[in-house]
Amino acid sequence: MEKFILPDIPNLHNIDVYEQHGGYQALRKALQMKPDEVIDEVKKSGLRGRGGACFPTGLKWSFMPKGNDKAKYLCVNGDESEPGTFKDRQIFEFNPHVMIEGIIIGCYAMGIPTAYIYIRGEYRKWIKMVDQALADAYAKGYIGENILGSGFSTNVYTHSGAGAYICGEESALMNSIEGERGYPRVKPPFPAQKGVFGMPTTINNVETMSNVPLIINKGAEWYSKIGVAKHPGPILVGISGHVNKPGVYEVPTGVTLLTLINEYAGGVPNGKKIKAVIPGGSSTMILRGENLEGICMDADSLKAAGSSVGTAGLMVMDEDTDLVRVLSRISHFYHHESCGQCTPCREGTGWLEKMLHRFEHYEARTEDIDMLENVANHIEGNTICALGDAAAWPVQSFVRRFRDEFEKRVKQENTVAA
Ligand SMILES: Cc1cc2nc3c(=O)[nH]c(=O)nc-3n(C[C@H](O)[C@H](O)[C@H](O)COP(=O)(O)O)c2cc1C
Repeated sequence: MEKFILPDIPNLHNIDVYEQHGGYQALRKALQMKPDEVIDEVKKSGLRGRGGACFPTGLKWSFMPKGNDKAKYLCVNGDESEPGTFKDRQIFEFNPHVMIEGIIIGCYAMGIPTAYIYIRGEYRKWIKMVDQALADAYAKGYIGENILGSGFSTNVYTHSGAGAYICGEESALMNSIEGERGYPRVKPPFPAQKGVFGMPTTINNVETMSNVPLIINKGAEWYSKIGVAKHPGPILVGISGHVNKPGVYEVPTGVTLLTLINEYAGGVPNGKKIKAVIPGGSSTMILRGENLEGICMDADSLKAAGSSVGTAGLMVMDEDTDLVRVLSRISHFYHHESCGQCTPCREGTGWLEKMLHRFEHYEARTEDIDMLENVANHIEGNTICALGDAAAWPVQSFVRRFRDEFEKRVKQENTVAA
């Protein structure tokens, strides 16, 4: 497939190169349309968010109150802290203007005068690169006052995170922008009613916004035919773990996981078998290697397989992988990153971590296997934000799909602790 978000064009981060390849033409086109027409076009395209939940983007945009009479905000989510996820930083580095163009079009469509690009604090290099790209876009009149003589004005700023995964959750992200502690907010009110600084706000992922110029340039109908009808478009898949060529691959949605692993990522080193894959970042449910046939990278296919697309961070584990250790590491992460606001998550993630530590060191009891699932079940759905679910899903799926691995780690009378 032709690549649109990360095409093989050298120096595309340079605004002149971006313009030479048709850059900012979509913005010119959008400014000739009515704002509602732009929203309709995004709706018709079928674009769904690339930040984890696959929410329809045009529908989200339509929740924003109309008119320009009060402050409204767009927050572009580049926190990218989910383990296994490293695709937004490719956009920052190799094609920042496609995101910036998408942001300005989004601001125009929703009548938004201010946008923040929230970038994880560890991404210092990429914050600098995005700042440079914004300065270049300002200098060319694509951002700022009276953009291209249209009468529409908007400003775009970067905002650096400070190393907390929770700040990628949209309402914690808004608190962080306000200078408050990154605690998720109770919903309702939803961000489109009351978001940053109490004003209507839309939050979208970096990759989501980067799809918008393509939709405007080529039209919703054309876009909707890329990949799978119910979840169309190009998607950036970050493949890591036991593969010969790990990296970020732009593919149409609907490509099978086995094609991604074997053809794009060059297969598993030394011809080993795949024991398991996590398809969409560490919070998505693990799948058994021998059951991958026919499963595709799109929302419906992965749902049917008992997992989800998440951030399309595909992690591959070969036959020698110690899955108890993997889950123990994942659970350490979610415990460490829990903001501590909700008791089930604050306490439960700690219990999971401790129990998994016992499994890892052959100190667990047989009944602990069910206990792991039980604790996870009591976290899921009982917290303000989805970090609780993100901590529960790996535990539930590892235990259900790889119970034998846990059984092997139960303390035996004559077992020496590893
Ligand atoms: C704990 C947690 C962390 C999250 N981290 C991110 C993130 O780093 N980037 C992101 O785009 N979405 C993240 N999300 C999802 C956002 O809350 C939100 O759904 C997303 O930014 C919406 O964008 P989209 O509709 O374009 O997908 C996170 C959610 C949770 C619960």
